[in-house]
Order: sequence, then C-alpha cells, then structure tokens
Amino acid sequence: LLSQIGPDAHMRMILRKPPGQRTVDDLEFIYEELLHIKALSHLSTTVSIFKNIIHHQKGVFNQGEEGTSWYIILKGSVNVVIYGKGVVCTLHEGDDFGKLALVNDAPRAASIVLREDNCHFLRVDKEDFNRILRDVEANTVRLKEHDQDVLVLEKIPAGNRVSNQGNSQPQHKYIVMSGTPEKILEHFLETMRLEATLNEATDSVLNDFIMMHCVFMPNSQLCPALMAQYPFPSQGTEQEKMDYALNNKRRVIRLVLQWAALYGDLLQEDEAAMAFLEEFYVSVSDDTRMIAALKEQLPELEKVVKQVSEEPKAPQKKHKVLLQLFNTSDDRAQKRQPIRGSDEVLFKVYCIDQTYTTIRVPVSSSVKEVISAVADKLGSGEGLIIVKMSSGGEKVVLKPHDVSVFTTLSVNGRLFACPRDQFDSLAPLPEQEGPSTGTVGTFELMSSKDLAHQMTIYDWELFNCVHELELIYHTFGRHNFKKTTANLDLFLRRFNEIQFWVVTEICLCSQLSKRVQLLKKYIKIAAHCKEYKNLNSFFAIIMGLSNVAVSRLSLTWERMIANTVRTVKFCRSQSFNPDAALTNKNHQDVRSYVRQLNVIDNQRTLSQMSHRLEPRRA
Ligand code: CMP
Repeated sequence: LLSQIGPDAHMRMILRKPPGQRTVDDLEFIYEELLHIKALSHLSTTVSIFKNIIHHQKGVFNQGEEGTSWYIILKGSVNVVIYGKGVVCTLHEGDDFGKLALVNDAPRAASIVLREDNCHFLRVDKEDFNRILRDVEANTVRLKEHDQDVLVLEKIPAGNRVSNQGNSQPQHKYIVMSGTPEKILEHFLETMRLEATLNEATDSVLNDFIMMHCVFMPNSQLCPALMAQYPFPSQGTEQEKMDYALNNKRRVIRLVLQWAALYGDLLQEDEAAMAFLEEFYVSVSDDTRMIAALKEQLPELEKVVKQVSEEPKAPQKKHKVLLQLFNTSDDRAQKRQPIRGSDEVLFKVYCIDQTYTTIRVPVSSSVKEVISAVADKLGSGEGLIIVKMSSGGEKVVLKPHDVSVFTTLSVNGRLFACPRDQFDSLAPLPEQEGPSTGTVGTFELMSSKDLAHQMTIYDWELFNCVHELELIYHTFGRHNFKKTTANLDLFLRRFNEIQFWVVTEICLCSQLSKRVQLLKKYIKIAAHCKEYKNLNSFFAIIMGLSNVAVSRLSLTWERMIANTVRTVKFCRSQSFNPDAALTNKNHQDVRSYVRQLNVIDNQRTLSQMSHRLEPRRA
C-alpha cells in the first residue's frame, strides 16, 4: 500500500481516522514521520493528539482572534502578516506557529496566510497542547521580521492560576527576553489585560516597561510608536475586526494613561511628550464621535492633558528659585516640593582669587551653560573651565555635557571657574575646611529621641521628593538623558553629611569624658532611628562611628566597655530558635559551605580585580 500511494498520502489517511480507530502500525508510522519534524524532534510519546491534517483555503487564522490550536507545517509554506506591516516573514515545512496565543492566553499576534495551494498542517488543539506539549515544547521562541529577530520570548512558570474549571494548574507564560523596542511595545499592547483596573499591579511587566523605556526607547521614539499603534486596522467592517480595533485603541489609551501617570509633573519638562499627549487626546476625542465605547476613557485622558498643559500657569507651580543649599527662602512655611530641572538655583562659582560670582541658572543646566552664565557675569569667558573642588583639594574638570553639577558636589565641595592654565594653582577655600568648634553644647541638650525624630522627618521629606526615574537616570548616566537627578543627589548627600557630622563632632570634642557621652548619644540616636525604621540615618551614624578617625579612639571606646559587656551577656542569655522547618531538612551542604568561606582579604587586590572587571567609565 505504502509503495503505491507514498508516505505522504498514507500519513494523511491515518490522520484522517478518528484517533480511536488508528492501529498500532498506524501510530508507529506516524511516529516515525513526526520525528523528522524539527518542532517535534524531542518528543518521545503520544501522537494521538494530532487529530487533524487540515487543508485551508486562504488563511489559517487572523490576527486578534482567540487562539484554539497550535500548528506545524507538514507541506507548503505560509506568510505571517501583521496589520500595518504586511508580510513580516515566511514559514516553511517543519516550522510551527500559533503557540503564543495558547500559552499567554492572548489574541493571535499575526494572521497566517497560505502561500500556495495544498498546504498541510498538523493541528494540535489548545487543551492537548496545554496538557501534553506545553511543558516539553521549546523554551525559547524567536519571532522574525524580514529575517531579523525582533522578539525573543522565554517560557517561565507563572505560578498557579486557577483555570476556568476551578482546578488550579501550573501555568506557564512567555516573557520578553529581548527584542526591538517597537516589537516589545507591540507585544505588551497585545497581551495587556483590559479587565484589570488601572491601579491594579497585575501587570508588573508592563509597569516595568513603562518605567524603564527611557533606557532603550526614549520618549522621542515611544511617542510616535504609540501614535502608530493607535489607529489600528481601519480596513474591514466585520464586527470581529471592529471589536479588535476597538480593543487595541483602548489598550493604547490605557498605556498612555499609565505612562503619563508615571511621569506626573516631570512631563512638563518634556515638550515632545506634551505635544504628543495633546495630539493623542485630539485623535481619541475625534474617535469617540464614531465609537461610543471609547467615551469611557476620555474623561481620564482629558484630566491628564489638562493637568499637564495648565499646571505651569498656576502660580504656586511656577518654577522655584533655590538658594545655594537647595531650599527656597520660604521653606519653613511649606512642605518641601521636589526640585525640577527648570527650577533656578542661585549658586556661587569661585575664581582663583577666591572671590565669587553668583549665577542664576536652571538646575538641569549643563556645564556648558554654567560656563556661559559665568562668562556673562565676568564679562569674558575665553577658554573657561569649571572645576569641582573637594575640601581635600581634589580637583576635577567637569565635561561640557555634564549635568546636575550643583547637587553632585561633595558636602563641602565648591565650583570654581578659571582659564585652563590656572588649573594647577587652584586651591580650596578656607571655608571648605568646615567648623573648628563642635556643636555638642547645643545638641547635648536635645533628647536623642527628638533628634532622631526630626532627622527622620527630614530624611522622609528628601526621600519623598525623589522620583523613581531619577534612579534610572542616575544608574544609566544622567547626561545620557539630559535630566537632573537633584532630588536623589540631595538624598544621597544627606547620608554623607550625617556620617561626617558624627566624625566631626567627636573629633572636635577634646575632653575624654565628654567624648564618651557623645559616643553614647550617637548610639542612642542610631537606635531611635532604627526604631523609626529610618535605616538611612541609622547606617549613616553607624558608618560615622566606624570611620577610622573615630574607631581608633581606643580610650573613648574603652570607657564604653561596661556597656558592651552587659550587652554581650544579655545576648548570650537569649536562646536561639532556629526555623524548625529548615533544620529538619538535610542542609548539610549549606551548613558546611557557610562554615568554610574562602576569601581574599587584601583590599588592594580586590580593587584591582574590580577595575579589571569594569574599567572606569570615560
Ligand atoms: P500566535 O500569536 O499564537 O499566532 C500568530 C503566530 O505567528 C504567533 O503565535 C507566532 O507563532 C507566529 N509568528 C511568527 N513570526 C511572528 C512575528 N514576527 N510576530 C508575531 N507572530 C509571529
């Protein structure tokens, strides 16, 4: 029989039978054949799930439809077609498609159109796929467009989700490993769940995307891409297509709302983003005339657009003028407001003769702009450089594109301006040395608890002003974003200030008995900070106390020994209750590992190794 009709036809004949009627020979034959198929080469069992060989006339399925099956091409080839892009790639014999929608419970990401008559597919239905294949199928999916990988997805377990039938089963999900920014955006829009409310943290991946997009897809790229995603298929009148288009529009609106919410007030500093928001709003409100269902999201969008475009005009929101120490003159009266890049700062820049000029420039100014502000004041600016000077006399020439220069100075650091040839003669100012008498007389009268409380309030104010995006700008280099990280800088700087406060006061206290009191006081303040869950000040004080200038004061510490002895005694009297669940198991490996740590204890070697791993950035 085989020789007469050929393996192809024989296979088709077998697969046309209902699975129950296939003979053992039949199954063996299919199995042999299937092993030649790339997508299945690692399969070892069950072929009865391949219920159908199917023949399609034109297309297999359309983008946006619900996914019901996974397909392997046995014969022929198909085009993968995406709205607005056309044919993005061609799949051939042995290739598979359509598992994304099944695994991620998402609409079809593309339409599949036949390239020739008489294509044959193996089709596996969703339930069988999820039951048998999902776990053995390849973990990585690479989607191509025009021969380039545009999206790489990796399958991960996604916890137990309760299925429709109420039984909980381990779920898997494809998550984005890499891809082009546009394709990642397209993918997130496709898999976004509209049912979840805006504030629900269900879609943390999407939140991460919105948060991090500036690193790989700046607003100048994201905004046009969002605009391009919005119109979605205009062709087609069938209800299904209409619904799909509507849902896509709603997804884009949702993403724009989330994006705007993340930026908040920062949006006003980005003209391109504001222009986009206004244009987008016009498109959506035009659409609501035709598509009533879009009306739902319009008020929210309207609110955002209004806020952003009108806020700068409100008097209390106008840019502030900050003094040298980054407070406004009316700080006492008002709650601290985040510093914005457009706020202006009155800042002293010193000359070689230790005179200074006060410049008034936006906080986000680049060094180039600082130079021209100084040159304006001095009346000449030929070849000026701006130098960051630490109290120890360490000098760094700032690069023209550096930003956030005012807030990244060290605690007693100053900015100098001079012609390049004077660089070598620049010296720190006497005032940079700091105080010559301590303030213990003042603060010994204050209770440790009050001090810790006020320190915590201040830390909290500074912390509250830090926008998450500042962390990203800080990590990836603020000059790459041309954004200030002033609020984060001030928060970090406060940490150093506290550390040096501890060391300064102790080193300025000449009387031994007083020093012991002071040491105790700092330990108390630290303990109260910890009570207030203010680990920032807590660690700052502890690090101040461990600064060699303090830790080497053995006379001072010796007087504290009674305290320490008492503490040790108390601690040893406590019983240690290890986690019973953990001790029962056999943790022999972990146990012996933690007891035999092998380390390098040469700090110089470690620093050298560190620099070899990641050389200093230019
Ligand atoms: P699914 O979303 O279930 O349905 C469309 C299928 O097309 C998709 O799974 C992938 O298997 C396949 N496909 C191949 N290339 C692409 C691409 N560039 N973009 C989207 N889908 C693609």
